[in-house]
Amino acid sequence: KTVDIALGQIEKGGFPHFMLKEIFEQPECLTNCLRGRISLDKQQVTLSAIIDYKKQLLSAKRIIIVACGTSWHAALIGKQMIETYCRIPVEVEYASEFRYRNPVVTSDDVVIAISQSGETADTLAAVKLAKEKGAFIYGVCNAIGSSIPRATDTGTYIHVGPEIGVASTKAFTGQVTVLTLLALCIAREKNTICDEDYKCIIKGLCEIPDKIREVLQENDRIAELSQTFTYARNFLYLGRGFSYPVALEGALKLKEISYIHAEGYPAAEMKHGPIALIDSDMPCVVIATHNEMYEKILSNIQEVKARKGRVIALVTKGDDTISKIADEVIELPETLECLEPLIATIPLQLLAYHVAVCKGKNVDQPRNLAKSVTVE
Ligand code: AGP
Repeated sequence: KTVDIALGQIEKGGFPHFMLKEIFEQPECLTNCLRGRISLDKQQVTLSAIIDYKKQLLSAKRIIIVACGTSWHAALIGKQMIETYCRIPVEVEYASEFRYRNPVVTSDDVVIAISQSGETADTLAAVKLAKEKGAFIYGVCNAIGSSIPRATDTGTYIHVGPEIGVASTKAFTGQVTVLTLLALCIAREKNTICDEDYKCIIKGLCEIPDKIREVLQENDRIAELSQTFTYARNFLYLGRGFSYPVALEGALKLKEISYIHAEGYPAAEMKHGPIALIDSDMPCVVIATHNEMYEKILSNIQEVKARKGRVIALVTKGDDTISKIADEVIELPETLECLEPLIATIPLQLLAYHVAVCKGKNVDQPRNLAKSVTVE
């Protein structure tokens, strides 16, 4: 028994749970994910799959991304990235809906399948259906040689190493990183991105591992803050633009390991109904980093405060406006708006983890969940 415990500790690298280990190893994992694919001095991104299948990828009239859960949240970020820089229309589909809907798919379509495990039944079925209908299939997976990569025409592994915790953390940031590389490669080939943006995003990506290390230093503070939410019954997570999928992901993390009901919402949608939910018992996590939407998210926070909501704001370091009205503030290092998901998601992973620990939940194996949903 003692040996098992010792072995367990070695596997967890001294962390109490695999999930916390995997949250903390994201800087190294993303460095591994970028290795050989991005060169700061050459200011260049290279994905072998794009070189080998340039014709199919550049001729796509539409890109459909199929995924489930956290991978579906990464897909939403991929959509914004690809549409912004490649100017190719992107549709994001829940694989479980796509596969049963007899969707319109043609050989003009590229279908991207995102899956950490590479064994999710709905995503595998969606891939097979799209392939039958003539689409070119591109996989973004983690588990080498798993069923989904084997069913695709090509793809890019995220190389973040085995993810043990049921709640996905490093795989999410790895997926977003690969989707960013993919968008940069295609945009460069299609000449739809200006030189300045291309070089700026490359530089920004190379700085991400260190910026994640900086945010991870908030761990103790977030652990302390989490204690005040042990008995919360509901949470709202709000974001706009690139941060809207991060709000969805933050809510899913909390739900699946602490069993507290949580909902992610586009911040502007609040006034179309959900704001009726706000009262002093409803903590609202708001991703309010400094970008074009700042003034709008500021007024969303004021709307929540006016209804006695408790606001936990993720702000850009040095913010002195929102930090004056929010109840709790978590500062994030500045980065490009399109790379903010890689930074903003870290404190939300830590928040979910520490609330679940305060509630004495089984963080690595939450009730009713499996690491890979290989059944429909
Ligand atoms: C995420 O924390 C969950 N474990 C779950 O939503 C997961 O993302 C989903 O089941 C998809 O898994 P996959 O990426 O392995 O296909």
